[in-house]
Amino acid sequence: MDKVILAIESSCDETSIAILKNDELLANVISTQISIHQKYGGVMPEVASRLHVENIGVVLKEALEVSKMSMDDINAIAVTSGPGLIGSLHVGLQCAKTLALAYNKPLIPVHHLAGHIYANEYVNPLKFPLLAIVVSGGNTELVLMKKHLDFQIIGETMDDAIGEAFDKVARVVNLPYPGGVSIDKLSKEGQHRYTLPRPLDDHSYNYSYSGLKTAVINLVNHLRQKGEEVNVPDLARSFQETAIDLLLDKALPAVDEFNIKQVVLAGGVSANSYLREQIVTRLKNRDNVEVVIPPLWCTTDNAAMIAKVGSYLYDEKLFASLSLSANPSWKLEDFRRF
Ligand code: KG4
Repeated sequence: MDKVILAIESSCDETSIAILKNDELLANVISTQISIHQKYGGVMPEVASRLHVENIGVVLKEALEVSKMSMDDINAIAVTSGPGLIGSLHVGLQCAKTLALAYNKPLIPVHHLAGHIYANEYVNPLKFPLLAIVVSGGNTELVLMKKHLDFQIIGETMDDAIGEAFDKVARVVNLPYPGGVSIDKLSKEGQHRYTLPRPLDDHSYNYSYSGLKTAVINLVNHLRQKGEEVNVPDLARSFQETAIDLLLDKALPAVDEFNIKQVVLAGGVSANSYLREQIVTRLKNRDNVEVVIPPLWCTTDNAAMIAKVGSYLYDEKLFASLSLSANPSWKLEDFRRF
């Protein structure tokens, strides 16, 4: 029998609905709010929730049209129920609960980061033991998976997420949101001329990106006070290389420690060109380690990745009741508790 999952993602500033029939992605409609939030230099949570409310009905209608499916064809509704912005999460969740109630379908709560990791299944099947380097605006986590739906956080940021550091550094030199995209682009025109610190440069798998971000802000302020020009492309390149080198220098020893067979990138920062190039270069002589780089469409938030996890959870019958609530700080290891 076919398994058809309708998935909803609204944890931040993308409203997305996907329909996955077995392994075939029939629709993945995404309405992004980036141009609206650019005016504010970052995501405005209240504005994001209101836009999700305006957009979700249209996105649902389009997903059903594109996939040529009706609600009767759907087996279950999967929805991102955390982590993310509480108001944004609630919109997707209310839509999912309404559909589940009205059409009598099981409801599957999906962890957003599990989605980012499973987005890689659209490129290659996951192989275990697997190391996922999860890097986004809200997260920097090293996740060990020994089998499907088995997540162990072996390291994480102690303060800011790496994407947050990209965004804040971009803002201090007046580059547009999302800062990571601007820094990545501009760094191609610059040289690594500024020496920046490598906070928490120890043998643990944990990170501190707040110190690096503050060092950049202090450097910019110091130069401005002296009346000197900041060379923005050079600063972008120096920051990007410092941040990404630190990420990989600390993450990759896990490959040997845990006998890793596959390394996957996940989350918005995995779009970074230097990260994508470096991970391949650093692991190219490791014949028995496969590197999976998600296609760019998979690095931004989308419901296709939620549908993928939803499909595995459907097999386990991990269904929630209609009293399910959004959990903005849901831990990945707790994804079975909702
Ligand atoms: O995963 P995502 O879309 O949203 C969260 O769940 O946080 O990630 C967004 C983050 C932002 O911080 C953005 O600046 C960063 O991903 N980002 C990048 C690049 N593209 C997006 N960071 C570095 N290089 C990029 N090319």
